[in-house]
Amino acid sequence: MSKDKDSQPAGIGYVDGRLQADGVSVEAIAEQTGTPVYIYSAAAIRASYERLRRAFAPLDAKLHYAVKSCPNLHVCRLISELGGGMDVVSGGELERAWLAGAPMEEIVFAGVAKTEAEVRAALDGRFSSLVRHAGRFGREGVHGRGPVGLFNIESESELERIAAISEQLGVPARACIRVNPDVDAKTHEYTTTGLEENKFGIYAERVPAMFEAYDGHPSVELVGVHVHIGSPVPQIDPYVDTVRVILALFDRLEAAGHRPRVLDLGGGWPVDYYHGESPAPEEYAARLVPLLEERVRGGLQVVLEPGRSIMANSGVLITRVQHIKQGRQKRFVMCDAGIQTLIRPAFYRAFHFIWPVAPEPHQLPEAWMERPDLPDLVECDVVGPICETGDFLARGRPLPEVAQNDFLAVFSAGAYGVSMASNYNDHGRPAEVMVDGDVATVVAERQPLASLLETERTTRKLEFSQAASVAR
Ligand code: LLP
Repeated sequence: MSKDKDSQPAGIGYVDGRLQADGVSVEAIAEQTGTPVYIYSAAAIRASYERLRRAFAPLDAKLHYAVKSCPNLHVCRLISELGGGMDVVSGGELERAWLAGAPMEEIVFAGVAKTEAEVRAALDGRFSSLVRHAGRFGREGVHGRGPVGLFNIESESELERIAAISEQLGVPARACIRVNPDVDAKTHEYTTTGLEENKFGIYAERVPAMFEAYDGHPSVELVGVHVHIGSPVPQIDPYVDTVRVILALFDRLEAAGHRPRVLDLGGGWPVDYYHGESPAPEEYAARLVPLLEERVRGGLQVVLEPGRSIMANSGVLITRVQHIKQGRQKRFVMCDAGIQTLIRPAFYRAFHFIWPVAPEPHQLPEAWMERPDLPDLVECDVVGPICETGDFLARGRPLPEVAQNDFLAVFSAGAYGVSMASNYNDHGRPAEVMVDGDVATVVAERQPLASLLETERTTRKLEFSQAASVAR
């Protein structure tokens, strides 16, 4: 598999009719690891990170990788090494980001229902859930690691909780208020977050009063504003409208004597699921930079939280056909990947291009589309092993003739693929492989059944105080 590094194609694509990741055969990987397996291209991750960074360089924007999109430790580590901070939404993601090497001050902590335990761990490493496992994951110093760089605050109640805990611990917290701008991101109803009917953020009119109330607060410093209107945001106008809402809010805050210094614009930058579907990062930047550059010159720090735009097309899911069933109405291609591996098609009716990893030469796809203009395709439902009718990867999709044991590639699966995988029907989570140069490395083993069963292996009777027993 070794070859001249310079001659390797970067990313995931067909080379001489066979699917490759950075020049390494996807079939060869899947034969070794078994399926389903997610394969990531380090070159594609680097390229997409760099493209976004360069597009927003005129704003000197800081990129905080949305860990939720693909939380694998080794993916996070690679992005951290590229200079990315991390955007986390739970105590678990916080520990993951830190283990991956992110400095605490480069972590922003969002999420609507932060618990006391999560806030404590985010402020003071002695409360980390990893304390008893220190060193096992190759990172020392959890006790003294300091607070996260930024909390993104979703409600007044949360701000009160953080203020109280930071006062108790004597650790000051920096925070942005997440604003709900009431802008329609024109995305799926489940992934729109910037409308007032959504649970996220605080309406703009309320924010000045919060800055007022916390002005000079001994433990919490409000440094700016966070906003995230949805994911993906397939058009540019909603971002422009959002930035206008925020700039108007900044004017009001400044008129009242406050000095917002951080604008975290969130994520949502789209990628192509169909070829040619989405505007490029440069097109978003071209509209947004002029709105913000003067403020940046005045000292405003712009933060972005990209996930999908770095990972979606840096990863591919490989599944193996187990059975073909020709029904009277439909042809079913039964695969070992289903909603337990990739839930996006079922959950959002999302489109992922699916194609054999080794198609016949006359059936090489030129572009990702629902109905490629190629000969000898057969319409099928590509379905998984789960006992639900909603378990499908694609419906009514023309595909080349495939046979039992063939590998199929599900494209654009690097974001919100493995992170939304589940153990439903007692399937272990899939394996993950990272290709970097000509080296393919298993960066997550397929979850063994013993690991699934571990929390049920022993039982433990609950002890109740007498009062609780009487109440019963
Ligand atoms: N920042 C915040 C506060 C977020 O809630 C999200 C995504 C991001 C950043 C990253 O957005 P991205 O750049 O990846 O678009 N499961 C859905 C997507 C849900 C996104 C949730 N939040 C899907 O599979 O499409």
